[in-house]
Amino acid sequence: MRLDRFLANLPHLNRQQVRVLLAQRRVSVDDRVTCDAHHEVRAFSRVMVDEQVLQAGEPARYLMLHKPAGCVSATSDPEHLTVLDLLPAALREGLHIAGRLDYNTTGLLLLTNDGQWSRRLTQPQTKQPKAYHVRTEDEIAAHYVARFQQGFYFAFEDLTTLPAQLEILGPREARLVIVEGRYHQVKRMFGHFNNKVVALHRERMGDICLDPDLAPGQYRALDADEIASV
Ligand code: URA
Repeated sequence: MRLDRFLANLPHLNRQQVRVLLAQRRVSVDDRVTCDAHHEVRAFSRVMVDEQVLQAGEPARYLMLHKPAGCVSATSDPEHLTVLDLLPAALREGLHIAGRLDYNTTGLLLLTNDGQWSRRLTQPQTKQPKAYHVRTEDEIAAHYVARFQQGFYFAFEDLTTLPAQLEILGPREARLVIVEGRYHQVKRMFGHFNNKVVALHRERMGDICLDPDLAPGQYRALDADEIASV
């Protein structure tokens, strides 16, 4: 919400008073004085007038989890273990998943309560690369590389996937970098060759790599550089 609207919505301030406060440089957001009426105020913003705190700001949380196989990327599930079940109860409140993984896919899963941040990471328009280590049932032929680069037509969504980089690491092993996160995207891409994905592991999203110190099922908070990289 815009700062002037946020202030004018408070019971003790009208629009004229808001204009004066801003002009007198008495308003701060996140400890920086601003006179910009359009400054964005979010649930996480700390807003003050003089020494008075008008909104303390909800703490933003950003976590990485090493997702093990055999749990669902959901916040609740009647049958299966969910990724949230792997976190202490006190940390779970308000978290959502920034880019789901399938039940048996392992690797980097990011969780946050900051919707803008997760959208920047997952929306295809922002073209944030997601790197996967893939093992397949059959051999990965050299001609796959150009085909992944060209894109595959997905009839259900009526779209062609954006160019993807396939690096062949072994006869049945590759690293794939995609910039979207369509439903079962990696498996469907290999499905074009009738080549079944038998193991899938996400290594990286944007500039955030899975911490090698995290065993499957373990998590840690992102550091300031990782948060700012998105
Ligand atoms: N693509 C898939 O097919 N599955 C995943 O879990 C992630 C990407």
